Amino acid sequence: MTSEGLVTAATAATEIVDEDPRDVDQPTAVDEVVVLDYGGQYSQLIARRVRECGVYSELLPYHVGPEEVRRRRPKGLILSGGPASVYADGAPRLEPELLELGIPVLGICYGMQLIASELGGRVEGAEIGEFGRSELTVRDQGRLLAGTPEIQKCWMSHRDTVFSPPPGFAALASSTSSPVAALEHDERGIYGIQFHPEVVHTPYGQTILTTFLRDICGCDMAWSAASIVEEQIARIRAQVGTGKVICGLSGGVDSSVAAILVHRAVGDQLTCVFVDHGLMRKNEGEQVISAFRDQFGIPLVAVDAEDRFLQRLAGVTDPEAKRKAIGTEFIRVFEEEAAKIGDARYLVQGTLYSDVIESGGGTGAATIKSHHNVGGLPDDLQFELVEPLRMLFKDEVRAVGAELGMPEKLVWRQPFPGPGLAIRIVGGQATKERLDLLRECDHILQDEIRKAGLYRDLWQSFCVLPDIRTVGVQGDERTYGNVVVIRAVTSDDAMTADWARLPYDLLEQIASRMINELRDVNRVTLDITSKPPGTIEWE
Ligand code: XMP
Repeated sequence: MTSEGLVTAATAATEIVDEDPRDVDQPTAVDEVVVLDYGGQYSQLIARRVRECGVYSELLPYHVGPEEVRRRRPKGLILSGGPASVYADGAPRLEPELLELGIPVLGICYGMQLIASELGGRVEGAEIGEFGRSELTVRDQGRLLAGTPEIQKCWMSHRDTVFSPPPGFAALASSTSSPVAALEHDERGIYGIQFHPEVVHTPYGQTILTTFLRDICGCDMAWSAASIVEEQIARIRAQVGTGKVICGLSGGVDSSVAAILVHRAVGDQLTCVFVDHGLMRKNEGEQVISAFRDQFGIPLVAVDAEDRFLQRLAGVTDPEAKRKAIGTEFIRVFEEEAAKIGDARYLVQGTLYSDVIESGGGTGAATIKSHHNVGGLPDDLQFELVEPLRMLFKDEVRAVGAELGMPEKLVWRQPFPGPGLAIRIVGGQATKERLDLLRECDHILQDEIRKAGLYRDLWQSFCVLPDIRTVGVQGDERTYGNVVVIRAVTSDDAMTADWARLPYDLLEQIASRMINELRDVNRVTLDITSKPPGTIEWE
């Protein structure tokens, strides 16, 4: 696709005419609200919650300026929280013009403090901060807090406090430590809340966001998985025309959803390449092949490359060397297969919005982080990228997958690293024998976790096989067997994670199955490290 083609496609509905490639990511037929990120830990979550309300939302760095916001034609603007003090040197400022764009503005936490200090309210450091659950007393619902009770719980995280609102503003609510916990100037369309409506500990948070989006901004709540599918299909068609497309399938949810979307759009112009490196979970290869070939009828080249990868991994114990060996071999196999397919010009990647944000996207920066689930394809591959998920969060990708009729098992598959089980054999070589043992352990773990109904609650659950042996006693015999580590975590985005409190009975059942069913295992342990300080994977 030419960037011209893209701009034309976007221009038809939005009349955006400049050539910034970022324009093309904006959906054409739905209302948008921009979230300006002042560095708060919940900024991405605000954008996700807005989308959950049915309004498309993008997260942009606070410094993009009023012109960039205006260019996107949003129906509203949200200023996020952030770690700074409004009166500190070098603290991110609020450009006053942002309050004059003719669209409603909602400041959250630091965002509200910015509004208050910019417009002449009193914001100061308080003796006591307010962190965690707090109780809100609503004196005047105003427009923003309409439909919420006089006394309600909320989640706070601040030390600076608004002591008096700017002239002309109504103070709507207070909490124990915040004399002004919500404020508004309805005629000017400016609103602020000190608490975090985006976290689950604020029970009326979603109500308040809905009021802002629907009643105050006048958004049509039409953003949904179905609307994404429709929009993306049109875009993919406009991008690739009659060209040939290839997609590296990893078995993970992102590349699977991307492939199915592209297939919906351009049918058999797409060929998928699935490289089975022998480092997958049990039966994973077969499941991917049967779902894509049989259920979806997508042309699929499946390469059984287990022997090649095992040879590459022989003697390799260092984690980064393992990753490198697998990555390089993956590219080699992929390129060989791509060459056989012939003149494919386009390559599908399952890049997500969180990757785009991380790589400085949303500001016109065109940096594209290669999607490591397909093994980290090199930059010099001669393909033009098709990235139908680059504006979606993981939960939206799953919703799109379900909308496209993907099997539940694929839609809800937990993330799995590109180098697969090889990086879960810690301190030793990933030999066929060890991989098979780890695969069986993992299978038992997944089976029990699914039976307990906990699979979807966990971000990831897997086993680690360290290269050590321990003594045991089974029957009357002394054994010298493998130790298996169970790792299960909850997380929103893998940046931080908490170790999952799996029930003791479940742990016992898992351990006893592993020891009874797998001869070489004689000890099972549980990793109770959160991230930070630990990482999710061991290598
Ligand atoms: P860590 O271990 O850094 O992992 O907490 C965060 C997330 O990234 C996954 N991960 C990888 N994914 N190639 C991948 O495709 C890798 O080399 C790799 N290392 C870690 C990990 O499973 C978790 O979801």
